[in-house]
Amino acid sequence: MVKLICIVGARPNFMKAAPIIHQLKKNGSSMNIKVKLVHTGQHYDKVMSQVFFKDLRLSQPDIYLGVGSDSQAGQTARVMIKLEPVLLKEKPDLVMVVGDVNSTLAGALTAAKLNIPIAHIEAGLRSFDRTMPEEINRIVTDRLSDFLFTTCQDANLNLSREGISKNKIYFTGNVMIDTLLSLKSKVKSLKTWDKLGLRQNNYALLTLHRPENVDNQKALKRILAALQEIQKYIKIVFPLHPRTEKNIKKFGLNRKIKNLKNLICLKPIRYLSFLNLMMNAKLVLTDSGGIQEETTVLGIPCLTLRKNTERPVTVTKGTNMVVGTNPTRILKETLKVIRGKGKTGRIPKFWDGRTAQRIVKILEKI
Ligand code: UD1
Repeated sequence: MVKLICIVGARPNFMKAAPIIHQLKKNGSSMNIKVKLVHTGQHYDKVMSQVFFKDLRLSQPDIYLGVGSDSQAGQTARVMIKLEPVLLKEKPDLVMVVGDVNSTLAGALTAAKLNIPIAHIEAGLRSFDRTMPEEINRIVTDRLSDFLFTTCQDANLNLSREGISKNKIYFTGNVMIDTLLSLKSKVKSLKTWDKLGLRQNNYALLTLHRPENVDNQKALKRILAALQEIQKYIKIVFPLHPRTEKNIKKFGLNRKIKNLKNLICLKPIRYLSFLNLMMNAKLVLTDSGGIQEETTVLGIPCLTLRKNTERPVTVTKGTNMVVGTNPTRILKETLKVIRGKGKTGRIPKFWDGRTAQRIVKILEKI
């Protein structure tokens, strides 16, 4: 019997852990692998956490650490301090961490110091930009991991270049796409766009939450300048991340945003509704990592408002374009999409809904 502890903490982790947990239960391999779910509490608001458990049919976490928000070091340290006694008590044979958030890094560091083997789901992605907290999390987590499950071939290459043994790398595909594909048909009937008074295939969906875009007043204002122009051509729907909402208030930009008549701001929305909005959008404007991948699979043009991406396959194969944050460039590329000249693409290898099956098959042999 293998005792597995899976650690999640923030919104994008839940979609990645869910298919693996479901697969373990479905296989009955839970007889050989006993999984416990630990939620660090990095994200704690109902709309950022509990609603996802419901949408993804995940049972409640076995252990909740309740760390909450803090500085980079504070949050990472608090997860480690609270997780260590849990791992000492549970004595797992393997700790599984997903993605690149602070809970991922803290989980890997705590396990490594207790000599517990680590599996990292979504290993090897690199933006080569160490100003991003996620890049530090990715590099250190991969260095400490024993089983590195990758989503694409460029991730394998990154890991090999960093000297990580090929024996540890498993190219199994994109597990988040398992979640998307399993819920796609259920989501079709939701018509979230209709409920918001939007026309199908005739609105832009926007998300922003990267510190480099929303913690800095100048950067946020530059993006707003682009939105001001774009909303003259197409309605924009904008579910606000709590970080973004707080900064809009802090920088006194509330009124400016309210004055943009075709910019519809929403509270964070549940996974199923977001998927419905994404599937029916003309285009997506985002600084998220996962959304670049989801739009590629859905065939929806995506403009990434960042300098770089750790997911280059979404650009070389998919519908993604990294456009930066220059307002003129953002408007130019948006207009191209509106005029029917958006990027089309192909679906990368193993983004096929069967990644969890492949991962569990490997886990069963451990
Ligand atoms: C984190 C991840 C990021 C991921 C994002 C998805 C890190 C370093 N960053 O960024 O990679 O893309 O999650 O959402 O791990 N807040 C709330 N309620 C919550 C959670 C957060 O109000 O439930 C607010 C707090 O003010 C907090 C801020 O949002 O300070 C940021 O939260 P945090 O978890 O530190 O980082 P994210 O920006 O969410």
